[in-house]
Amino acid sequence: MACVASAGPLAPGGLRCEYLVSPLGIDVTSPRLFWVPAHTERAARQTAYQVLVSTSADAAAGDVWDSGKVASGSTVQILYAGKALESGRTYYWKVRYWDQQDQASPYSPTARFETGMLSSTDWKAQWVRGGNVVRKEFDLVAAPVRARAYVTGAGYYELHVNGGKIGDHVLDPAFTEYDKRILYVTYDITGRLRAGRNAVGLMLGEGWFHARAGLLQIEIDLPGGAHVRVATDSSWKTTKGPILADSIYNGETYDARRELPGWDRPGYDESAWKPVSLDNPPRGVLSAQMMPPIRVVADIVPRKLTSPGPGIYVYDMGQNFSGWTRLRVKGPAGARVTIRHAELIYDDGTLNTENLRSARAADTYILRGDPEGEVYEPHFTYHGFRYVELTGFPGTPQLESVTGREVHTDVKTTGGFAASKPLLDQIQHNIVWGVKSNLHSIPTDCNQRDERRGWMADAHLAAETAMLNFDMAAFYTTFLRDIHDDQDDDGSVPDFAPRQDPKAPADPAWGSAYPLLVEYMYQQYGDRRIVEQHFEGIRRWAEFLRTKADAGGIVSFMKYGDWVPVQPTPGDLVSTAYYYLSLDIVAKMAGVLGKSAEAGQYRQMADGVAAGFQKRFYHADSHWYANGSQTSDTLPLFFGITPEDERDKVLNSLRDDVVYFHNTHLTTGILGTKYLLPLLTQTGRADLAYDLATQTTYPSWGYMIEKGATTIWELWQEVTGPSMNSHNHPMFGSVGAWFYTALAGINTDWQRPGYEHIRIEPEMVRDLEFASGSLDTIRGRVSSTWQRTPGHTRLEVTVPVGSTAEIHLPTLRIQDVTVEESGRPVWKEGAFVPGAPGLTGARRAGPSIVFEASSGTYVFEAHE
Ligand code: BGC
Repeated sequence: MACVASAGPLAPGGLRCEYLVSPLGIDVTSPRLFWVPAHTERAARQTAYQVLVSTSADAAAGDVWDSGKVASGSTVQILYAGKALESGRTYYWKVRYWDQQDQASPYSPTARFETGMLSSTDWKAQWVRGGNVVRKEFDLVAAPVRARAYVTGAGYYELHVNGGKIGDHVLDPAFTEYDKRILYVTYDITGRLRAGRNAVGLMLGEGWFHARAGLLQIEIDLPGGAHVRVATDSSWKTTKGPILADSIYNGETYDARRELPGWDRPGYDESAWKPVSLDNPPRGVLSAQMMPPIRVVADIVPRKLTSPGPGIYVYDMGQNFSGWTRLRVKGPAGARVTIRHAELIYDDGTLNTENLRSARAADTYILRGDPEGEVYEPHFTYHGFRYVELTGFPGTPQLESVTGREVHTDVKTTGGFAASKPLLDQIQHNIVWGVKSNLHSIPTDCNQRDERRGWMADAHLAAETAMLNFDMAAFYTTFLRDIHDDQDDDGSVPDFAPRQDPKAPADPAWGSAYPLLVEYMYQQYGDRRIVEQHFEGIRRWAEFLRTKADAGGIVSFMKYGDWVPVQPTPGDLVSTAYYYLSLDIVAKMAGVLGKSAEAGQYRQMADGVAAGFQKRFYHADSHWYANGSQTSDTLPLFFGITPEDERDKVLNSLRDDVVYFHNTHLTTGILGTKYLLPLLTQTGRADLAYDLATQTTYPSWGYMIEKGATTIWELWQEVTGPSMNSHNHPMFGSVGAWFYTALAGINTDWQRPGYEHIRIEPEMVRDLEFASGSLDTIRGRVSSTWQRTPGHTRLEVTVPVGSTAEIHLPTLRIQDVTVEESGRPVWKEGAFVPGAPGLTGARRAGPSIVFEASSGTYVFEAHE
């Protein structure tokens, strides 16, 4: 039953704490709150809010925090300012707001956040290791009123209580620099414990940490106020379970004959088990894992089953993805089925695993011989694949014998893009699959071979695309802390985080992920706390680069440069450009924090580097940089190194290079590619950017698709041998950001970030007749959808409550254009016609009319 809302402010929704929906076990002492106000009318905004936080479930008491009526338009990044939070408590909160007419909204629904271990002294558990299962039984005099499990592993773990796995996370904990930090997860297990005997256990896997160690602390409140703690210690018992071997890269071997029925239930006979060992506990500090977990997010049904040889069965899953295979099989005990995974097949239909390098990507299941049949899926590994091969299968497998299980960090989809050009939709598809399959608690470079590292350039190149398609705020918050944890005394950061390798400073373009991710977090989410927390870190990174610069500001230190290009670019140009960029971001962030002395100092340093760059790399006679590669010209133009009076000349060289020397193809590697299309667009050649985006011959995204790609390749070239050629690498997916910012035309404003002020500027180019983008931003839904036919343009835009927008409506050479908004004239005879609610003005800017709008949904139509 819908209740008929009266006009005015509606209850805020989308309540979040530290970017998470009702999180359990956070360990920040002043968490930030977020909400999205709703309103029935346009031009709505919040003018004041009231937050109530309580330890009782309706939040109404506000006994922990009653903010009172706070005069503020802010709906995001609101700092909790109540009583000091205590460990292991549940806090309930709600919020209401007052609109522009000082009308109060109803209160929001109640949300929660719960604290974990706020102090390291809260931890009483000891790290235990042994085989790959550990267990303990204990008694409770009554069923608990509240029970929480705080758990982690140095290596993967599964927590089991009274006969079943707890929670739906897989491959926990997140990959971190485990000597520095290990992340724990909090579970509510109240309903899983009972009066009498209980059993808890952990399955332990190698994971990234290879320690097979577990840490568990359960805090139980009983009726009447008694408290019981159960924690891993020397009294726990261990044995070897059915997992004979597990490795992220190589796969899992599971012998179902060795299963331990009832091991996680009370009353199990553990007399053959041994005491656990407490040796060598991991050294990292324990922090709450405050990001979406890795989960099985979907099932993938195979498209095709073939048998390229006797006893060899190959499934085509139709899509390259991350995860594993679930097997259904019936057969004799001891039968051994091997499940191999690959991105590619040979012409004869057999698996091509050459590009996995040393990763075996094979799971082996040994049957227990259940006459009812058996179902297996691995626990502590994952693969990147499109094809699955079964060998050793007893009998003949059917299509249904295999299901793909898609596994990655379960970030919420927050963006959507579509266009009238099918190729663009297919590229968008490949990008989205490429990005999500490379979110495995860190942004990985690839999902299949013996690598899957948090390579830093790959991370920053894909970040904007990821942020426009998914809710990445908590994910990158964690990754930035990983980078910070890995920063060396000299200010350098590693090429990939977690580092896990001997110390070596990153290539300048790789380490610049540090300032770039800070900047993106600020732009997309208005996250000032990130800027505060990492300002010193990014400043030290810039200072590290300074130690690598010569007197002219040139940094020759490089390792990879514009990686995997068609035409190489000199490494010193790339390194110096990223040195400039790092200084530039430090200067900007100093400005954000009001550190004007540092802002000035780093701006000056950046200017000095720009001058040195110009002197060293610019050919004033021919108007290009260094060897004239597209990346050589793109980086200084896009980063703002090129002096104003030279820009047009360099742009001409760049366009000539694209159009005449390369027949409208790009030659850029991963770095140049990120900036080339946005640069062309910002400088009035969106049509040329579009030509590049929609190319179908080598090198282009369309070429990959012509060759059957379902994700984005690591290389522009089609390579399938044993060399470096992943078929699922997110970095060239950087073009995905351009789809939103240029074709749908949705842009945030650096001065009022997090979509507080929005610029809608769609590029209606070439044969494109329609494009649509929508984003669930931190402030609510922003969308832009346009269509055009000769002589007619339609643009529908949504601006969230509290935000403002400038909306650029291209008039597409329509003479004497008239614009209507929802049927009412708003532009006529060259002038703004006031009166439409929410529109405050309009002006002509070149070929467009620019409307000033506040919140609401607007439908503009332009015609003669
Ligand atoms: C990775 C890249 C990474 C590069 C560094 C490769 O092996 O897969 O994407 O950025 O090494 O050059």
